[in-house]
Amino acid sequence: MLMMPDIMDNVHRYFATTVGLITTNGRHGPNVMAAEWTMHISYEPMLVAVFIHDSPTYWNIEETRVFGVNIASEDQAELVNIAGGYSGTEINKLAIPGTFATYRAKQIDVPMVKGCALNTECKVTTIQKMGDHIMVVGEAVSARFDDKKFPLIYTRGNYRKLSKNKIPSGRKVVRITPEQMSHFKKMSSNQFVLKAAAAVVKKNNKILLQKSGGHWVLPMVPVSRGADYKNALNQHLHSIGIAASIARIKGIRRMTLKSGKAELRANFIIFSGTLNLFREDYEGTAWFARPPKNTLLKSLL
Ligand SMILES: Cc1cc2nc3c(=O)[nH]c(=O)nc-3n(C[C@H](O)[C@H](O)[C@H](O)COP(=O)(O)O)c2cc1C
Repeated sequence: MLMMPDIMDNVHRYFATTVGLITTNGRHGPNVMAAEWTMHISYEPMLVAVFIHDSPTYWNIEETRVFGVNIASEDQAELVNIAGGYSGTEINKLAIPGTFATYRAKQIDVPMVKGCALNTECKVTTIQKMGDHIMVVGEAVSARFDDKKFPLIYTRGNYRKLSKNKIPSGRKVVRITPEQMSHFKKMSSNQFVLKAAAAVVKKNNKILLQKSGGHWVLPMVPVSRGADYKNALNQHLHSIGIAASIARIKGIRRMTLKSGKAELRANFIIFSGTLNLFREDYEGTAWFARPPKNTLLKSLL
């Protein structure tokens, strides 16, 4: 038995859990979060408990007293990463195209996630603060399950199949130049994952690009934790002389940037926008009818 001084910091890693995708809908908009601390705690009545922190998910539940529990299946590790990696204060996770497929709940006004091992619609019976989290207990008023889907297992920071195989991260590897790597490392402010917002803005079939690390890429800006991606992007565009209406999320690109031995994980939320106004003379930006060939730009588009 190992007794390390930092054992208490690591205790949680040695549990193995399933992961609930907790869906809500309220003043803070439709939302989904990942909660490994999701479990059923009573047969009759059928009660489900989730342990969550103070975030848009909790605010919606406190307001509406309902929530959806969608137990992620083995092929939904990517969805769990997105639901757990972004807050509803940052982006509308459910609006990212090609990610969450949802259906309407029967008994409550909450979107439910398709493709899960289990879906239950819950009405709150108890809310109680527990240490640094809040326990929300709900009665399952409707449920459905898919016998063909196995629940995803989470332990020691990895997702596993019940067959014990570790699931690869699913990130695309994109090779970049050393100059680009040092640019993006700086942009990431030494965080493990660079999280950025990027814009596809077009004018007369030409796309706006900005030179970053010596190459033309989409105009982009790193976004700090908890900040609104759309606002951050609008401010950045403004700073390079562009006024655009950033309308919707076009997609998410999760990749590992590589240059020699250096690696950086990067997540880009790509927004599309319509141009309202621009200043012609800003250095470092240009409009392209045919975007130049570089691997990063290709991966972002
Ligand atoms: C695998 C995984 C499990 C998580 N489990 C929990 C959990 O049980 N409770 C919790 O409060 N946060 C948990 N989180 C973190 C939340 O999902 C994360 O803070 C999310 O951004 C909250 O969403 P919201 O701010 O939109 O409500 C987990 C994250 C991951 C990736």
